[in-house]
Amino acid sequence: MKTKTKVGTVEFSCPVLPASGCFGYGIELAQYYDMSALGGIVTKAVTMDERPGNGMPRIAETPSGLLNAIGLENPGVEFFLDVLLAQIKRFQLPIIVNLAGKKLKDYVSLAEKMLDPQIAALELNLSCPNVKTGCMSIGTNAREIKRLVSAVRKVTDKAIWVKLTPNVTDITEMAKAAESAGADAVSLINTLVGMTIDLEARKPVLKNNTGGLSGPAIMPVALRMVSECYRAIEIPIVGMGGIATAEDALAFLMAGASAIQVGSSTLVDPDLLFSLGDKMAQRASELGFGSLSEVCGSLEYWD
Ligand SMILES: Cc1cc2nc3c(=O)[nH]c(=O)nc-3n(C[C@H](O)[C@H](O)[C@H](O)COP(=O)(O)O)c2cc1C
Repeated sequence: MKTKTKVGTVEFSCPVLPASGCFGYGIELAQYYDMSALGGIVTKAVTMDERPGNGMPRIAETPSGLLNAIGLENPGVEFFLDVLLAQIKRFQLPIIVNLAGKKLKDYVSLAEKMLDPQIAALELNLSCPNVKTGCMSIGTNAREIKRLVSAVRKVTDKAIWVKLTPNVTDITEMAKAAESAGADAVSLINTLVGMTIDLEARKPVLKNNTGGLSGPAIMPVALRMVSECYRAIEIPIVGMGGIATAEDALAFLMAGASAIQVGSSTLVDPDLLFSLGDKMAQRASELGFGSLSEVCGSLEYWD
């Protein structure tokens, strides 16, 4: 079965991508897995300066998901470009660089630096809930999204994917803002803000007090948002949130995603990410589809 997919102008051999932050830069996993099983690489968020991230504990397990407050730990853009990018390029896959900043000008400066031809797209992280400025505070305001994406659009020819937060009343308003400013795709969803409590300590478990919920618990929310956006915008959608099986991934395609990303499940079972493309193809064929791209948007609504 054909597994090729396109997100705007970017072509992928299969629709399976790692979700930012759950895969590092792929360098460690490449020692154990054949990276060609993936459609591309999505990096951990890259910021202008090196960031140590939030204090510990910054990860907590909940009954059906993971709560994290990493706080965008990363070595900064210069180290990314000077050291990491060459190693990621060895996988010979399209690279999507996840960019995060405190202000509009950080995103513009970061985008200006992403010149390498193997960088296929810039995924603007307007959705991290674990930092005090930037990211989600921009991504919850349609006017700010439009302002930021328009500014980045002016300085780059790379495809722009806008990663949206589910922590809003109407995600289609945010997706439309991104589209109207020249985004090539939207990625959704990032994590849902949550809290978990240590009764004996009478304190939140996470040092940041709150964190972002990911994993199986959030999949119904993510599917609903992909389906809403698919009907509201013309640009493609990259779907994620709780994918743990081939059926989950196909549900995202059916709801309208052109490609999918797998995050938390990779931390539980890295095998999944690398076998998912084949498993999706097999399951799609059992369901009567001739190709994976045929699954995209094939959901039939009751009314
Ligand atoms: C530990 C961890 C770190 C993350 N770091 C980032 C990040 O740097 N940039 C980003 O856009 N999303 C980040 N995310 C969000 C994921 O990319 C993804 O949107 C979210 O976890 C939902 O997918 P999942 O349920 O498959 O994990 C992170 C998630 C986790 C669990």
